[in-house]
Amino acid sequence: MSDLSLAPAAATVAPLPAEPPAAVPRHVALVMDGNGRWARQRFMPRFFGHKQGVDALVRAVNVFADRGVQYLTVFAFSSENWKRPSEEVSGLMSLVLVAVSKYLTKLAGDGVRIRIVGDRSAVSEKLRKAWEHAEQLTKDNHRITLSVAFNYGGRWDVVQACRRAVAEGLRPEQIDEAWLASHMALSFAPDPDLFIRTGGEMRISNFLLWQAAYSELFFTECLWPDFGAAEIDAALLAYAQRDRRFGTIRPNQVMPEGI
Ligand code: FPP
Repeated sequence: MSDLSLAPAAATVAPLPAEPPAAVPRHVALVMDGNGRWARQRFMPRFFGHKQGVDALVRAVNVFADRGVQYLTVFAFSSENWKRPSEEVSGLMSLVLVAVSKYLTKLAGDGVRIRIVGDRSAVSEKLRKAWEHAEQLTKDNHRITLSVAFNYGGRWDVVQACRRAVAEGLRPEQIDEAWLASHMALSFAPDPDLFIRTGGEMRISNFLLWQAAYSELFFTECLWPDFGAAEIDAALLAYAQRDRRFGTIRPNQVMPEGI
């Protein structure tokens, strides 16, 4: 007899939020795009744009925290960014090191908990140590959690969770959405409510593919170094006006019986 049953598999799904969505997102995901164009508009090298981008990030973390956002996850370096010219890649690597030494004390004092998510195996020992230090120093902070996605890709994240399932010897029926979600890189955070991308492109670019399943998307032409309090408030206002249904319908949309 064929095993092709039409009955859906009885998989456990990751729980959706029990409470109605709040007006302020708990978790914001951010693609900080447009540094290169921002620099070019000023006849400056791309690196100058990235440098300004770090300053914009430090400002933005505090604005998001002031507005009540508890988790901010930023795409600092994607799995695909290695394909950029080698001088830009090494410039970004050293910029992160400089940024940690320049801003860590301030961010720690501002109550920011720092987490790094992504594949650490390909980065230098020096950078790994700097991240471990930043995570350790800020681990007890609670105002906002800043997760820096570095050498991160949404597909990498799914693959690494699957590899862990195999390494742990799980049987197929033991793997479900809840198990995978708890083994993804951002398992310590709720899924992002709001996904913002600056710089005018309207795509997700392999960021948080799993976690952004029900995120509200907000795209803006604003180039990342210019993304300040006014732009953040515009994004938060747009979010507050969205109608989030997580695949369900509102009770008043249910058809009368027989229709
Ligand atoms: C995209 O702009 C931006 C990046 C690839 C890097 C973003 C990184 C930072 C802002 C630095 C983060 C640093 C720390 C310490 C977290 P782009 O170069 O693609 O700009 P373009 O689209 O205008 O060329």
